[in-house]
Amino acid sequence: MMITGHSVRIGALLSLVILGGCKNYPDVIKPGPKQVAQHGFRGVGMETNYDPDDIAKTAAYNQAPKPLPPAPPGPPGQYRNVQVLTNISAAEFGRTMTAMSAWVAGGPGNCAYCHNTANFASDSTAKGELLYTKLTARMMLRMTRRINSDYTRHVGGTGVTCYTCHRGQPLPNGIWFYSDQNQILRHYLDRDDIRVQSHSVEPLPGAAANRTSIRQTYNTYALMATQSKALGVNCTYCHNSRAWTSWEESTPKRVVAMYGASMLRDLNMNYLNPLQPVYPRSRLGEHGDAPKAQCITCHNGVYKPLYGAKMVSDYPALWGAAGWDATAGPLDATGKPLFDGAPLTEPGVTPSGAKMSAAPTTATAPAVEVAMGVTPVSAMPAVTTVPARPTP
Ligand code: HEC
Ligand code: HEC
Ligand code: HEC
Ligand code: HEC
Repeated sequence: MMITGHSVRIGALLSLVILGGCKNYPDVIKPGPKQVAQHGFRGVGMETNYDPDDIAKTAAYNQAPKPLPPAPPGPPGQYRNVQVLTNISAAEFGRTMTAMSAWVAGGPGNCAYCHNTANFASDSTAKGELLYTKLTARMMLRMTRRINSDYTRHVGGTGVTCYTCHRGQPLPNGIWFYSDQNQILRHYLDRDDIRVQSHSVEPLPGAAANRTSIRQTYNTYALMATQSKALGVNCTYCHNSRAWTSWEESTPKRVVAMYGASMLRDLNMNYLNPLQPVYPRSRLGEHGDAPKAQCITCHNGVYKPLYGAKMVSDYPALWGAAGWDATAGPLDATGKPLFDGAPLTEPGVTPSGAKMSAAPTTATAPAVEVAMGVTPVSAMPAVTTVPARPTP
């Protein structure tokens, strides 16, 4: 049979109709207009394709709630058991409690989700059991302040509030545990950095060792796919796909993403994992570990959480610093904006081979958590079923 251009077109149209109607694979091929955003030079194919239907769905989920009316200035209140929110006015304190109830516990009046309402200062229920929600929330306050004050390289121009992750619910999206399926996340968001491409053929000791392996490559690509999905973007949002390794040819977003991964390691190892003894068993994973976060926990499908709404600028309780400059974007190690058009260089590599931002990544557990019996991170037992990172 002779295949004409015409029959090819009809065939293509037919398969579009068939695939488009196939409910199980709505993302494979969807008829209708697409929007294309360019991230690189013209002609290099560095573009992201968006489907307007998908945008409409994620947009509805990513609207920031209106801020509560501002609180008047005043001296800090007199409390019996306040350990983090010590430097805000009494009115701001109450405002923050109301906001937290709406952001995490479903409604502004839901104080009882975290409190024994007969005694707001208490960390236990009337029956004397640990109020895990309040203890967790206190750690979340420390974590949120840490993100907003020490990780400006990643969250710089936008910042985070409880709502960024929680969206009105106690359980955010994308929480994960140690399991065989989540080895990939454990490697990158809890412990190691990525290292697929080797720059040497010789087997070298230590940091320079060639750690390339099929398994390692699989892990990297899986992580890359979860990152892309978390942000709702293509690979070319960060890379020029002709040279995945090259930092010079990547977009500035790749550096921001890397700071995001080191931030997540800190959050998971030093704030979320150490809450393990506080949670009830029903909240823990099959290996007894605490729930952890990943990129999608903040990003929820868009390139900047809540499309970059600067919610946190309305809530001084979450800055943990004298002022918060909501206009600054991510900065490089020398304090210059990352997006100044200069070619990228790979961020500093530590002797262990781990690439880290300047912010320290192993904070010591705050005294109060130690007193509470929370195991410091350095003393956390390794999960025995997790095999050592494969070396070639
Ligand atoms: C998501 C959890 C959460 C919700 C919901 C919440 N709180 Fe709190 N509350 C806390 C935490 C955590 C502290 C301790 C903060 C610290 O240590 O800096 C606290 C402390 C307090 C204190 C100080 C008590 C003392 O003397 O030590 C008061 C008063 C208070 N909250 C009132 C409220 C009210 C009123 C509501 C409802 C509008 C509310 N809280 C909702 C977590 C919560
Ligand atoms: C980076 C994302 C992130 C931010 C920001 C964040 N949280 Fe969380 N939060 C989590 C994760 C992950 C969990 C674990 C979920 C679970 O309990 O299974 C969690 C759990 C909690 C829980 C326990 C929920 C439960 O019932 O198990 C409370 C309460 C809480 N957070 C309060 C807060 C408050 C208050 C803030 C703001 C000061 C905040 N969180 C900010 C990620 C976040
Ligand atoms: C949000 C930005 C971002 C997106 C999207 C992204 N990557 Fe990456 N990619 C990175 C960063 C950052 C690194 C370096 C991580 C490190 O060294 O710790 C990296 C590393 C890699 C590496 C390893 C390069 C080396 O030198 O070892 C490969 C391969 C890769 N990405 C492929 C992909 C593919 C395929 C996709 C699409 C499925 C993708 N990436 C999407 C940011 C991104
Ligand atoms: C604690 C919340 C949080 C987590 C977790 C997080 N991000 Fe982000 N990310 C943000 C915020 C907030 C911004 C906006 C920063 C700004 O406006 O400059 C952002 C911005 C970015 C950008 C720049 C987007 C742009 O168009 O300028 C990239 C890329 C990115 N994140 C990648 C990642 C990756 C990859 C991960 C997981 C490894 C991750 N993020 C984890 C909060 C988070």
